[in-house]
Amino acid sequence: MRGPRFAQAAAEVAQRYSQSVSFDQRLAEYDIAGSRVHAQALHAAGILSDEELAAITRGLGEIEAEIKEGRFEWKSVLEDVHMNIEAALTERIGAPGAKLHTARSRNDQIALDLRMFVRAESGMISEQLRVLQSAFLAVAREQTNVLMPGYTHLQRAQPIYFAHYLLAQIEAFSRDRERLKGVHRRADVLPLGAGALAGSSIVLDRAEMARALGFERISENSLDAVSDRDFVCDLLFALALIGVHLSRLSEDLILWSTTEFGFVEFSDAFATGSSLLPQKKNPDMAELTRGKCGRLIGDLVSMLTILKGLPSSYNRDLQEDKNALFDAVDTIHAALDVFIAMIPEMKINRERMEAAAADPQLLSADVAEYLVRKGVPFREAHAAVSTLARLGKPMPELTREEWQAASPLFDDDVRELLDPRRALATRKAIGAPAPENIEWELTRWRELIEGE
Ligand code: ARG
Repeated sequence: MRGPRFAQAAAEVAQRYSQSVSFDQRLAEYDIAGSRVHAQALHAAGILSDEELAAITRGLGEIEAEIKEGRFEWKSVLEDVHMNIEAALTERIGAPGAKLHTARSRNDQIALDLRMFVRAESGMISEQLRVLQSAFLAVAREQTNVLMPGYTHLQRAQPIYFAHYLLAQIEAFSRDRERLKGVHRRADVLPLGAGALAGSSIVLDRAEMARALGFERISENSLDAVSDRDFVCDLLFALALIGVHLSRLSEDLILWSTTEFGFVEFSDAFATGSSLLPQKKNPDMAELTRGKCGRLIGDLVSMLTILKGLPSSYNRDLQEDKNALFDAVDTIHAALDVFIAMIPEMKINRERMEAAAADPQLLSADVAEYLVRKGVPFREAHAAVSTLARLGKPMPELTREEWQAASPLFDDDVRELLDPRRALATRKAIGAPAPENIEWELTRWRELIEGE
């Protein structure tokens, strides 16, 4: 692609600096699929004869097989995946190979490959999330009536069912899946035909190319088509947020696996030892996930930073999009694989969770609402229960006089409220953790997750 206008070969250090084939070769299957369809469009436009199209199709098939079998020789002097495949084709079939790049630029070619990659990955990651959701659902179905304290500010707040916590994770992952669907939809636009930036005097049937490559839509502006990496940012944001969800989940599990909490225990297969302290069992998988989330956020910020100062159209800076994209995709796949395998093996310590949830102070709001039912404004009821809390005594041990000093409306029956299961039975609003709501949610998710 340097041509006779260059008097010198590229310096070796420059070649090494600018090559992308060492990492963009993973786009080969999309590049070849795009080339096949591009050749068909050139044939339809009268540029390629039947024989030439057949030779190109055959040559691409052979190259594809070689790549799959690891027999293909990638050459960094040829810079990138596109030039490697094109050069191998021409070497193999001669003149028709040299016609393939008619009315095409690597600028629309890389946009195509990346869009196909993003479409495929958003689907695969969504499927992994579905499997993870079903792992959470299985634990929730097994542990349906296990109580635990719910926390705000990491202080015990109100009792919940552990299943409610697990269902909350499923909710977050379902938003992630929804987001990935949006990523897929926005990536699903054919850029091929945009050329370098302004199309070509040879007019190709873009609608037919889109149909052949399974694209829903066609880019409407050739300049935008080669400039646009919004779909990469979209995927990187979706992956960063999945990372944030996994990281917060990790933080909960790390904390709950401490001796102080003792709510959960990682199976030996997903825990690590200490090189010095023989008694240690460390939650490294969760910690690594929390750490890797930093990388995922970094990948998104890298991409946005690469884009922010770019003049419109293609600039070579865009080649750097791949490092961020591939790193994020690989990181998320690995993290999801670990969680899918680790969650089902996690031991749940019911006694510890329920002992913590039995703290009667967790029902302080219920006690305030007892007064509300008797007509006391909530702010006053809150103050009355707050004076009780100040006594520093567990509520079941308060005397009748102490109750009445806080509010004369307290009767002996207030003590009946101090049972977490009874309290949870009243949480009937949509989305709240009453047992029948949880049952309903378990069924709903089972149908949604397993019905797919
Ligand atoms: N390897 C390049 C990239 O990844 C492909 C496009 C190169 N285009 C160009 N005009 N140099 O972005």
